Amino acid sequence: MAPEVLEAPAPAKVNLVLEVTGQRLDGYHEIDTVLQTLELADTVQVLLGGAPGMRITGPCAAGTPDDESNLAWRAALELAARCGKSLNGLGIHIDKWIPAAGGLGGGASDAATVLRLLAQRWGAAEETVLECANAIGSDEAFFLVGGTARATGRGERVERLHQLTSQPVVLFVPETTIERKTARMFAAIDRMPFDDGSVSRAFTHRFRGPVRSEDVFNAFERVAFDLFDGLAATWEKLEERIGEPVHLAGAGPTLFWIGTSTDMATRALNAASGLQCTPILTRTAAPA
Ligand code: C5P
Repeated sequence: MAPEVLEAPAPAKVNLVLEVTGQRLDGYHEIDTVLQTLELADTVQVLLGGAPGMRITGPCAAGTPDDESNLAWRAALELAARCGKSLNGLGIHIDKWIPAAGGLGGGASDAATVLRLLAQRWGAAEETVLECANAIGSDEAFFLVGGTARATGRGERVERLHQLTSQPVVLFVPETTIERKTARMFAAIDRMPFDDGSVSRAFTHRFRGPVRSEDVFNAFERVAFDLFDGLAATWEKLEERIGEPVHLAGAGPTLFWIGTSTDMATRALNAASGLQCTPILTRTAAPA
């Protein structure tokens, strides 16, 4: 018998604001961040009653684990354990279009999508799904909501904000990233003064969009040059050619430009020519 197939897109994100406001006793940091999902997305399929295991395809498949270490598989494990279900005959197929380990949240989004699909099928309570999301990582809770949202705590307290209308975003994806990137970025930021959350607060209470590149704030930009070799040169060239700021996506190393004009988006896309990064044109997107 053919397996039952559950399918949904798993969108990428950028942080429009990312403030690190303090250190916690559990080794994590307090953050105050405004996130936005994008049209760029992986496609996640959960297959029930077929050959078990993970399969990764698509242009960004390289570097994505296709075993139990993948966050999407861990998501299924976490939910199955809480719902008293077995993973026998469960397959996960991810068609990867989001560059891995770039700061775009692809792995977390895939995991959250598996949680949503299985939760619906198994009738899991919202609270249980959120528990699983937080057991897997700090960005997963946001992806259960999507669109424009603010996340605080270590990222698990998510509040939906006024939804931004669709606008162009150009991503610049460098060829290399580093091991344990997020942990190292947070450790590097400990040497800097913490943020006070005022940028996220202002965004939350006053901002209605559209977002321009100069509105974006990311605390990790203070330390990114030290950690990612060659990023400074790419960054400088992009800003010079575009004539507007570009920003770090999450913990990097992807950079992005956001604006309103399609002419400027084309200019941003062309600005990557000859630089060590791949440009991707996408748009901000509300949840499907
Ligand atoms: O939650 P996630 O697995 O994405 O985090 C990876 C690492 O990043 C954590 O082990 C921690 O070192 C760091 N982190 C942090 N504060 C956060 C989120 C992540 O220090 N709010």
